[in-house]
Amino acid sequence: MLLFLRNTSIKQRLTYIIMAISAVSVLLTTFAISIIGVYNLRLSILRELDVSASIVGDRNTAALIFNDDKQAEANLNVFSVQQTIVQACLYNQSGVQFARYGNKAIEEKKKLLCPTNLEPRAEIGEDSIELMKPIEKMQEKIGYIYLESTLDPVKRYIEKQTTIALSVVATTLAISYILAIYLQRTISRPILNLASTAREVSIRKDYNIRAEFEGDAVNEDRNEMHILTNAFNDMLTEIGARDQRLKQQYTELEKAKDAAESANRAKSHFLANISHELRTPLNAIIGFSSILMNQLFGPIGDQKYLEYVKDINESGSHLLDIINDILDLSKAEAGKLTLSYEEVHIGKAVNKSLTIMSERAAKGSITITTDIPKMLPPLVADRLRLIQVILNIVSNAVKFTESGGKVHVAIRTQGVDNEVTHFIITVQDTGIGMSMEDVEKAFQRFGQVDSGLNRKYEGTGLGLPLTKKLMELHHGTIAIDSEVGKGTLVTLTFPALPPAGTEYKSND
Ligand SMILES: Nc1ncnc2c1ncn2[C@@H]1O[C@H](COP(=O)(O)OP(=O)(O)OP(=O)(O)O)[C@@H](O)[C@H]1O
Ligand SMILES: [Mg+2]
Repeated sequence: MLLFLRNTSIKQRLTYIIMAISAVSVLLTTFAISIIGVYNLRLSILRELDVSASIVGDRNTAALIFNDDKQAEANLNVFSVQQTIVQACLYNQSGVQFARYGNKAIEEKKKLLCPTNLEPRAEIGEDSIELMKPIEKMQEKIGYIYLESTLDPVKRYIEKQTTIALSVVATTLAISYILAIYLQRTISRPILNLASTAREVSIRKDYNIRAEFEGDAVNEDRNEMHILTNAFNDMLTEIGARDQRLKQQYTELEKAKDAAESANRAKSHFLANISHELRTPLNAIIGFSSILMNQLFGPIGDQKYLEYVKDINESGSHLLDIINDILDLSKAEAGKLTLSYEEVHIGKAVNKSLTIMSERAAKGSITITTDIPKMLPPLVADRLRLIQVILNIVSNAVKFTESGGKVHVAIRTQGVDNEVTHFIITVQDTGIGMSMEDVEKAFQRFGQVDSGLNRKYEGTGLGLPLTKKLMELHHGTIAIDSEVGKGTLVTLTFPALPPAGTEYKSND
């Protein structure tokens, strides 16, 4: 019932509610009246029966005293005019049945017998009312009279009441329907008005539309619908103002974003240009200093000059590394760094990086161990960038590990049904480690962890951000697990193949 109401309009709901309440109250009232009526009717039948028993009893005193059963029978026959009397029985002083009257119509249908129990009583049963009463003369019991009456008047009354109740309910329903249709409007109209305004606002996205309220404005504080309409309109004003502010802020943000993007582009452009411009003279410095270092055109003479030239060459190479990192990072951020994919023997690439690092590791008395499976399927990646990534991570591991420490490099694969889907390279060191906040910082440009300890380590803080970018370009991931004083574990995960459709050089 309630579920049915839930899917109807407010108009229908109010109409049904008003009709239901009216019908239920009319039914309850008629029911209550009928119950009282039935109760009273039964009592009055009993009273009538009692009066009849007294009159007929009196009339039969002579017949009882003179043992005249014929007269008694004739006296009882007066009940033949009362259709509701089922039977009447007369008993003498010693309780023996003396005379009897039985309703002919009822006797044709069922056999009637006078009761033998002479206990005085007045009982209302389901179908009949029974009365047993003693007959007295001068305070002395001279016999008994028994009367039984049908409850037909009660049944007829109930039938009549039911018909009346049904017609009253039907009339009430009809009248309450007409009244409900008319009255529900005072509630439903403002709500429907609000609903249609809300719908219009949502379709047209126009917050200047307002809901209107019909009715007098004098009692507006006492009328909840008026309060609701006003609150709704205030809300629209507020939304409208907020919308306006948001639009303004959005325009300002757009402008700021454009400005920031253009500044960033200018910065990347500047960095790329300056790096390029710096590389040309630097290559000359490195080239000429290495000619001098190798004394290609004859001996330098003083040993001191040779040391200075070596310093010039090393510093130049270091500077070139930094400039290359800056250039790569700027390119990657500008989305201009592209990978040239080929099938790479990942074991060989890792070993090559370790050979490059071996000298530095040996200098710091750091042992590098590996766990590289012999048979590995090829990984499709940019070979030089892959080596650059491994070098960055291993050089960090060596750099941030104290003398005598260990670095362990391992490769493992992940796959589905014998097919390798991912290559995982892990670099574990026993170095100084970092806290979790520092790991976050380490991925930012120039984000060296300033713990005081690492100030003694050289570097610019470009290695990890660049590595992260290169991993992203490979659609791979880098994860760092580290604990201060315990060491660091870097996990690089490469998908075995680039995204579908990417061209790459095959080894076949
Ligand atoms: N294995 C590691 N153990 C401890 N700290 C590390 C490790 N790797 C990186 N870090 C911390 O993260 C910072 C950033 O690393 P990143 O490689 O970006 O810079 P860098 O090594 O200092 O300089 P660059 O790599 O540019 O020469 C480092 O300065 C260091 O503080
Ligand atoms: Mg580094």
